[in-house]
Formats: sequence, C-alpha cells, structure tokens
Amino acid sequence: MGDAAIGSMETTRTVRASNYLRMNPLITDEQFSIAAKEICRGELVAFPTETVYGLGANALDSQAVARVFELKGRPTFDPLIVHVADPQQLESLVTEVPDPICRLVEKFWPGPLSVVLQKKSIIPDLVTSGLDSVAIRCPGHPVARELIKRSGVPIAAPSANRFGCVSPTTAEHVWEQFGDQLPTILDSGPCEVGIESTVVGFDGVSMILYRPGGVPLEALEEEVGFFKRAGTDDQSPSSPGQLTQHYAPRTPLIISCDIPVEFAGKRIGVIALCPEAEDKLMKECLAVEFLSKSGCLREAASNLFAAMRRLDSAGLDGILVRPVPEVDLGLAIMDRLRRASAR
Ligand code: TXA
Ligand code: MG
Repeated sequence: MGDAAIGSMETTRTVRASNYLRMNPLITDEQFSIAAKEICRGELVAFPTETVYGLGANALDSQAVARVFELKGRPTFDPLIVHVADPQQLESLVTEVPDPICRLVEKFWPGPLSVVLQKKSIIPDLVTSGLDSVAIRCPGHPVARELIKRSGVPIAAPSANRFGCVSPTTAEHVWEQFGDQLPTILDSGPCEVGIESTVVGFDGVSMILYRPGGVPLEALEEEVGFFKRAGTDDQSPSSPGQLTQHYAPRTPLIISCDIPVEFAGKRIGVIALCPEAEDKLMKECLAVEFLSKSGCLREAASNLFAAMRRLDSAGLDGILVRPVPEVDLGLAIMDRLRRASAR
C-alpha cells in the first residue's frame, strides 16, 4: 500500500489514534516510550514481528491479557504466545528447559520459533488457557524486541487480527481490522517472513510439532531429530488453538489444480506459487496472485496473507489456490491454506 493510503488513514484517525507510530524512516525514541507506557498501564499495542503483527499486552497482567481476548473475539481456550526481548529471559518464565529445546533456542532465537515449556506461576493462567505449559518466543524483529525491552515485561501477543481471520502482515491490515478500537500501532512496514512462528514442544521422549511456521521443519529436524505432529492421532497432544477452520477469508477458498464444480461459471480468483507454461487456468480467472515469480517458497510465505486479503476484497465468488510442495515453508503455507479452506 502506498503513502497516499497511509495519509488518508491518518486523516480519519481520532486523537487517541494519534499513537499510530510509523517507523518510516525510524520509530523515534519518544514513540517507543509511548508504546511501552501503554503496555505498562495495561493497554494493548500492535507491533511488528518478522512473522506477522502481534496484538501485545503485558503478559504478567491478567486484566491486560483479558483485553486481548476481548478485542480479538478469541475464545479463552486458545492460549497466547509470550514474547521475550532476549533468550536469557526464558528461565524467568519456565521451570526448566530440556536439552533439545535448549539447542533449538540457541540455534533459532531470535526468530520465528515458539517453544512450549512448563510455566512458572508468575504467568497468569489466562495466558495459557489454564494449561501448565506456556509458549515462549524471542522474535527476530528489532522493533518487537525494543518494545519488550522498554516495557520491562514479557509481552503476550496473538496475531493482531480478529479471531479466525487472516493474520496481518502490515500495519494497514491491523488498522483495517480494529480501527479506533486499537489506538497504538507500531508500524515498520511489511513482515519479512509473513507466516506465523513454528510452535514446538518436547514430551520427555519426543519432539512435538504443534504448528508448522516460519522455521522449516527440516531445519529443526536437522538439529534435534524427528518431530511427532501434534493431533495426528488420539494419543498425541494437540495445540488447543489449532482449529480446523482458521485464517479464513470471507470468500470461499478451495485448494485445487483445476476449477472445481462448485466454482464452474463463477467469478474466480487464483493464488498460485508461480506462472506455469500454457496455463489454461489463468485464462478462466478474473484475478491472479502469483506468490513468487521464481517459485521461491520463502517469498511465497511472505506474500500469502496479503494475496488472500486482496482477492478477498475483489468481489469474487471464489478463490482457488493451487497447492504448493509441502517442503520448507511450503508445509506452513499448506497448513494455513487447509484451514482457510475448511468450512
Ligand atoms: O508468529 C507468531 O507466532 C505470532 C507473532 C505475533 O508472534 N503469534 C501468533 O499467535 O501466531 P497466535 O495466538 O495467533 O497463535 C498461537 C499458537 C496457537 O496455535 C496456540 O494454540 C499455540 O500457539 N499455543 C500457545 N500456547 C500453547 C501451549 N501451551 N501448548 C500448545 N500450543 C500452544
Ligand atoms: Mg493467529
């Protein structure tokens, strides 16, 4: 989105919304202080991470955390991720860090990896939806880490979208969802990874993948060996927030290589990884979003949610998505697409 759109957003903003803090070219010292103060007084702040924008609150303040659930319309059975400014903070929040998790943290933090560990009592039950475990992440984005550092508390943050909707990868997406209900947004442009963090745990015997995300499974397995997928059988633990339907645009979305019968004769948009030779499909569609001209899955992940949003607002009857290979970030892309297509 260009500067003109940002200008028009600013003119529609109320006085409280003047806390909309744009990092172009830099978020100033004063702006960081405003945002950190909001966190400390129990208010919410949207902030960029390398994955998606987060809706942050003081993780140690139940009332502030309750506001996150309320504003998002998120059910309280879906636990939040707690964000720390540096890896050393981990020990103050969890009872122990088993060796394989320690290795992953050393290798992938700061970055798009959340680790599920036994929580200390300092973390309110509301954050973890009553679970004994908590998901912790040290984000790679310098703005996120600076905000946490200045706030002096860990920040609990889900993606800054209404429950079930597509995650925001720009500050404009956040503004579109919440408007004046969320006065403080730290804007530092589009998120580089564009897909949420990988969520992992350890049950004492096996590594568990709760949610594929920004760190590819292959890279994790190279470090610590095989991962069980959570929720794939009755015995395995599952992540309470991993609902079948999630990340969903309003327009029906189907994953398929060809136009399915449901979409025959309708106004269709297509999302595809990259252009293919003699692509018949493209001729039958009104709008096309290629996620990466070169077929790069990393680039595709960073463009996925914005592409879904653009087609969702294009007045189409359906969105058809051509499947991508389930390797590297393709695993997380297909995970989000399956949830977006579930009705
Ligand atoms: O990249 C991200 O992770 C972003 C940014 C803002 O950091 N956050 C994010 O949060 O995606 P959210 O709330 O949209 O997703 C949190 C995920 C859910 O799938 C939830 O079920 C899982 O983490 N989770 C949280 N605590 C857990 C726990 N104790 N055990 C298992 N899964 C947990
Ligand atoms: Mg989310």
